[in-house]
Amino acid sequence: MTRVFPEGFVWGSATASYQIEGAATEDGRGPSIWDTYSHTPGRTLNGDTGDVAADHYHRWAEDLGHIAELGLAAYRFSISWPRVQPGGSGAFNRAGLDFYSRLVDGLLGRGVRPVATMYHWDLPQELEDAGGWPARDTALRFRDYAAGIVEALGDRVHTWTTFNEPWCSAYLGYGSGVHAPGRTEPAGALAAVHHLNLAHGLAGRVVRELAPAAELSVTLNLHVVRPASGSAADADAVRRIDALANRAFLGPLLDGAYPADLLADTAKVTDWSFVRDGDERTIAVPLDVLGVNYYSTTLVRAWDGVSARSDNDGHGSSAHTPWIGADDVDFLPQPGPYTAMGWNIEPAGLTELLLRLHREHPGLPLMITENGAAFDDVVTPDGRVHDDRRLDYLYRHVDAVGAAMDAGADVRGYFVWSLLDNFEWAWGYDRRFGIIRVDYDTQERIWKDSAHWYRGLATTGRLEPPAPA
Ligand code: FCB
Repeated sequence: MTRVFPEGFVWGSATASYQIEGAATEDGRGPSIWDTYSHTPGRTLNGDTGDVAADHYHRWAEDLGHIAELGLAAYRFSISWPRVQPGGSGAFNRAGLDFYSRLVDGLLGRGVRPVATMYHWDLPQELEDAGGWPARDTALRFRDYAAGIVEALGDRVHTWTTFNEPWCSAYLGYGSGVHAPGRTEPAGALAAVHHLNLAHGLAGRVVRELAPAAELSVTLNLHVVRPASGSAADADAVRRIDALANRAFLGPLLDGAYPADLLADTAKVTDWSFVRDGDERTIAVPLDVLGVNYYSTTLVRAWDGVSARSDNDGHGSSAHTPWIGADDVDFLPQPGPYTAMGWNIEPAGLTELLLRLHREHPGLPLMITENGAAFDDVVTPDGRVHDDRRLDYLYRHVDAVGAAMDAGADVRGYFVWSLLDNFEWAWGYDRRFGIIRVDYDTQERIWKDSAHWYRGLATTGRLEPPAPA
């Protein structure tokens, strides 16, 4: 069935600085926690680092050409904090700011709306050395950084997104340690949750003041958590994981308070005294749009105390759990099919998530800021990449967005993850998410079949089932 999206629905693609830019030591860029982490033996698959990545720092103009050619209305990129303010405080680096200024002007010149994320995980190493996100001062430094970039780029940026997936920064960075900086400190992870939220509020107020015409957003990786059975114990497991994964952010951001059950569930780990009077008010700065990243679903059950433990949460394996205070919850494998990340493919989860947000926060516009899939792509002798499974994934998820809109959800746009193959964090270059293939030996860009298909969607707003191969 052909589905027609409304006029003005925004089709875009997304990337992140450390995943594509490379040029890790050029033009005054300082080290970030991901430089340190990826250069530490054993932390990333094959010891891959973002030193060169997709070389976007040098090839940005060519990449803008691809964005224009795809007919995209918007491009979501992130600003590397250590490129524009190398030590995370004090002086700004002109060359770094100029890079993003050229990028923004290049987008505007091609009629593409710039959507800038202030933080997609590359914290300046100096700030980590001073305590990182568990330290309150990092949030204050973030406000100053936000003021510097908003002053430089202002309302040439259409939408400012403060954070990408603070869940990952806090729980994977400081809980399970599978992301930079690789710390495993349960109380520190919860303090990081709060300081990331606080930094969002502080930076959001900076945007309001310095770029009143720009839109303000934050991007969350909300979890669609389902119970393994109808038991009360499994329902409670869902509640606990929903608190850690979703309401730890939605609560203060949208309702001005942390949920009471979250504080109670984690009371053995921390008394949350790092939340000071007035913080929750600061965090609840009104948003213009909420960014939603979606890939798959989560299946949980209450551990019965006897069975073998199962930690299949899709977030990498570690002896330390990212699920602070929820040691009695198991994460079960889910029915396939799966992507190359091992994530189950479940488009209905996206419809469900959008409708939940619509129900709980009516009037808040939503934007899909990431959705996509890694598969083991092959370049065929005709020089093409017939990525049928990615194409099918994208088709079914865009259709799921349309289904949520039919049921009333106010969704304004969709950004495919990702424009280019890139450095997939702990998985290095082994997992390819791009609709454009990057040959890492030559840096040649090759449009996969999904890119050709996406251009059709972006230029017509008509979702057609992929043609059979
Ligand atoms: C998200 C990240 C993004 C990318 C995708 C696959 O969690 O925001 O950088 O790694 O997953």
